[in-house]
Amino acid sequence: NTYCVIMAGGVGSRFWPSSTSTKPKQFLDILGTGETLIQQTFRRLTNICPEDHIYVITNEQYADITQDQLPNIPNENIILEPARRNTAPCIAYASFKIKKKDPLANMVISPADHLITDEKEFGRILNVALEATRDNNILCTLGIKPHRPETGYGYIQYKDPEKDIHPEVQQVKTFTEKPNLEMAEQFIESGDFLWNSGIFIWNANTIMNSFDKHLPDIYQSFEQGWDVLNTSGEKEFIDHIYPSCENESVDYGILEKAKNVYVIPSSFGWSDLGSWGSVHEQSKLDDHGNSVNTKKVLFYNSRNNIVRIDPGKLGVISGLEDYIIIQDDTRLLICPRSEEQAIKQMVNDVKVDF
Ligand code: GDD
Ligand code: MG
Repeated sequence: NTYCVIMAGGVGSRFWPSSTSTKPKQFLDILGTGETLIQQTFRRLTNICPEDHIYVITNEQYADITQDQLPNIPNENIILEPARRNTAPCIAYASFKIKKKDPLANMVISPADHLITDEKEFGRILNVALEATRDNNILCTLGIKPHRPETGYGYIQYKDPEKDIHPEVQQVKTFTEKPNLEMAEQFIESGDFLWNSGIFIWNANTIMNSFDKHLPDIYQSFEQGWDVLNTSGEKEFIDHIYPSCENESVDYGILEKAKNVYVIPSSFGWSDLGSWGSVHEQSKLDDHGNSVNTKKVLFYNSRNNIVRIDPGKLGVISGLEDYIIIQDDTRLLICPRSEEQAIKQMVNDVKVDF
């Protein structure tokens, strides 16, 4: 009864110009491993359940690229959204479909674009979580020990030992999505917070009840179409209701509000590869701390730069420190590393590629 759902509809604009709306970061081999991020994610989940129990949910724009990159996934397991509505409608849609197929389904929800270096430990933890959620009415997330006051994550405070359901599965006291910097600093200082990894485990019944309770409009939208889900009438129904679903993330919409959230403190070499800096951290560096994707870049007097250029070209970089330099056939980005979070906004402002 185990199913995995890979959420792959984000646009990854912080990685422009490598990531564009036609080919966002989950479809790129951003670490140069030979596999794209979604391929890594899929392979990792094949240790948890059979291939035909793995679903990908993504924007309809990415139907072909998903099928090309994951040839082993049955076509009907690629769920297509006609609009971008963030993760709450996305999870509701996938959960309704899976629940209709298998009323006792137990599910792992995974982002498509994270790095996990210790896959064995990841598998062990997921099995603990699946065991815990099979017969319990709980929403389980995997928590990561934080090391910087990152404001782009959810923060989880635990625990109430009396309510733990397993030594590793601990009750969450508070869940705070994307706090401001001051709060994030306090959370880190206090020491009893974890980052939300964004990987969730729950059974289909529990997540549907949570939608009914906390996001009833979304719940009702999908419920009206129960009879047509997984039939030829599904597309017409989804095209009709999906664009008017609330644009909401599951973190704000459900996890911040629900009382039955649990966390497994985990350590499996997780990175959400959220910015060029986090890719740099995972890359091989030269003696001066530069990372590059090709040997054909010569550095003079330059340190700690992140350089990705078309491998057919020769690059010379002189006298630069802490820069991001990304170039392909038609686009070039040069920006100090301290501005990496602003790339998203810059790209939005100039309305290129997204
Ligand atoms: N199908 C689909 N449709 N997928 C989506 C959509 C959508 O509309 N929006 C986002 N996704 C996918 C992204 O591709 C990514 O794999 C995942 O859902 C999470 O979305 P993000 O947009 O990357 O979320 P976030 O990074 O701001 O925050 C989440 O992840 C953090 C850890 O990386 C939250 O869960 C945080 O609490 C968490 O700390
Ligand atoms: Mg993310």
